[in-house]
Amino acid sequence: MSWFGAEVNGPLVLTRAIHFAASATTAGAVMFCVFVADPALRQSRDGGAILQSRMAALTWTGLAVTAVTGLVWFMLLTMSITGLGSREAITSGAVLTVAGDTQFGLVSEVRAAFALVLAACLVLSRYVVLRWLGLAAASALVGAIAWTGHAGSTLGELGILHLTADVLHLLAASAWIGGLFGLSILFAVGRRRSAFGWEQLQLDAVLRFSALGMISIAVLILSGIVNTWILVGSFRALLVTDYGQLLLLKIVAFVLMVGFAAVNRFWLTPQITLTTRTKTHANALSALTRNTLIEIALGLAIFAIVGVLGTLHPAIHFMN
Ligand code: HEM
Repeated sequence: MSWFGAEVNGPLVLTRAIHFAASATTAGAVMFCVFVADPALRQSRDGGAILQSRMAALTWTGLAVTAVTGLVWFMLLTMSITGLGSREAITSGAVLTVAGDTQFGLVSEVRAAFALVLAACLVLSRYVVLRWLGLAAASALVGAIAWTGHAGSTLGELGILHLTADVLHLLAASAWIGGLFGLSILFAVGRRRSAFGWEQLQLDAVLRFSALGMISIAVLILSGIVNTWILVGSFRALLVTDYGQLLLLKIVAFVLMVGFAAVNRFWLTPQITLTTRTKTHANALSALTRNTLIEIALGLAIFAIVGVLGTLHPAIHFMN
């Protein structure tokens, strides 16, 4: 299949995109619970319980999709490395060789261990210490993706900078996009709740999330610039290469996301702050809900682009 004139492996790209989105949503949902929902909804026992059960469902679904697409990604990569079909890849032992002798294989095993730790923490999430351990396991599960991509093959000190930037990039992407799923679930729970005080708690959660969102955007821009500097290297490469043009498309989607986030933070949130139980409040809340869903759609589009980007030769390789 060709994309922007570049030949890409369709099934591999699709699996990577879904895997990145699922890993980020899983880690982001855990971050949303620890940094936004738990502190904001501590006073609302039943509201908090409903939100927690919905967030648990989101996290488990994300983890299941991460596990399945992780296995498929592993198989597809083994098949593309060896040129074997799925059955021969297993019967010939190629799968074990890739698992044991490649960086991708070793990182996949480590990530599988983090996924198991996270699953155990989700089962025992009534213990606060295990909620924090779950946060660490979820962050490691998504952060370790950096060792499977271009950042994992940059050598020397530049390699350490690239890996650090990419890990921060993945954590920030998770906090923002996974958090947006949490926010849309919060609004859905809110639409069925009219209990007194809920609006205040919801507003507290919205303000906590926008703080997390602004930190994530800043980290995404800084780590994204480092990634771009290492893998693209010049404006010319950004404009004239397939990789560069695809990255530009990603940056356009990112700018649109930031635009919606700014409208939410500086136009709609003040409206729900100043008004309660009024038409203005209801209109602002439904606009906030709609914009949140649009941001999620743009975020998923970015994961689709990244699904391709990581399989292309970096632009800097074509520039001399
Ligand atoms: C919502 C915003 C964003 C999301 C969700 C996002 C997500 C991701 C993900 C999942 C990766 C893959 C990491 C890997 O394979 O190791 C990645 C890589 C990358 N991102 Fe972003 N990113 C975002 C914004 C940005 C921005 C603003 C820039 C540029 C300023 C950027 C530049 C890059 C580059 C150059 C890579 C390396 C791709 C490669 O491995 O070839 N990203 N991004």
